[in-house]
Amino acid sequence: MKRTLLKTGDGSYTLHIAEWDEQYHSKHGAIAEALHVFIKEGLYYWTAKNDTQKLSILEIGFGTGLNAFLSLLEAEKNPFQIDYTGIEAYPLEIDEINKLNYTSLLNTAEENFRALHQCSWEEKTTIAKNFNLTKHKRFFSEITANNDFNIIYFDAFGIRVQPELWTEVIFASMYKALKPNGILVTYAANGNARRAMQAVGFTVERLPGPPGKKEMLRATKV
Ligand SMILES: C[S@@+](CC[C@H](N)C(=O)[O-])C[C@H]1O[C@@H](n2cnc3c(N)ncnc32)[C@H](O)[C@@H]1O
Repeated sequence: MKRTLLKTGDGSYTLHIAEWDEQYHSKHGAIAEALHVFIKEGLYYWTAKNDTQKLSILEIGFGTGLNAFLSLLEAEKNPFQIDYTGIEAYPLEIDEINKLNYTSLLNTAEENFRALHQCSWEEKTTIAKNFNLTKHKRFFSEITANNDFNIIYFDAFGIRVQPELWTEVIFASMYKALKPNGILVTYAANGNARRAMQAVGFTVERLPGPPGKKEMLRATKV
């Protein structure tokens, strides 16, 4: 499917899929959404609640690498040791990556952002001293992780366009992939998605959403 660049409300770019009228991030701000949903309500929530700062993160939909990059930047400012795994079936093309403006907006060097995209698939790579990345080129339905992750960034396309990704089957595999007390955070607040999470055992909270969105969800494996 054809993807085009779109500027969001905070000046950061996202990719737009015209065929679905869907984009990779919120139109109100790609960086703002990622910082709120995944960094604040995911990464900082979990590290504040747990004694260890060593953690593993699974991202459902690696895409532009924005969530991985923001997590890496936080790891540089904190004593975190992050093992990050990204799942992606349709990686970005190099010319799409080159057009993204995250490093200039965040006022950071390009090197680590490039490294996230340039590193090999299917092998663990140390991107920074306290940040390892493993990218898997595969479908979400192929995930077989068991008791491996502390946090899941669930950043699939919306339920309107990919309803098959917001089902009990997928959330059961997410539940299995998490360690006890692990959390899944997502920008979505859809009632069917929330009920599917609850049906497989998650305790689900509705939290204030990112700019332009009333609510988001955080699901905990208790
Ligand atoms: C909403 S985008 C978010 C991407 C990423 N988190 C970001 O910040 O750019 C969803 C991502 O999931 C990927 N995707 C969609 N369906 C998939 C599937 N069935 N298996 C694996 N990846 C899929 C898309 O290619 C896209 O990169």
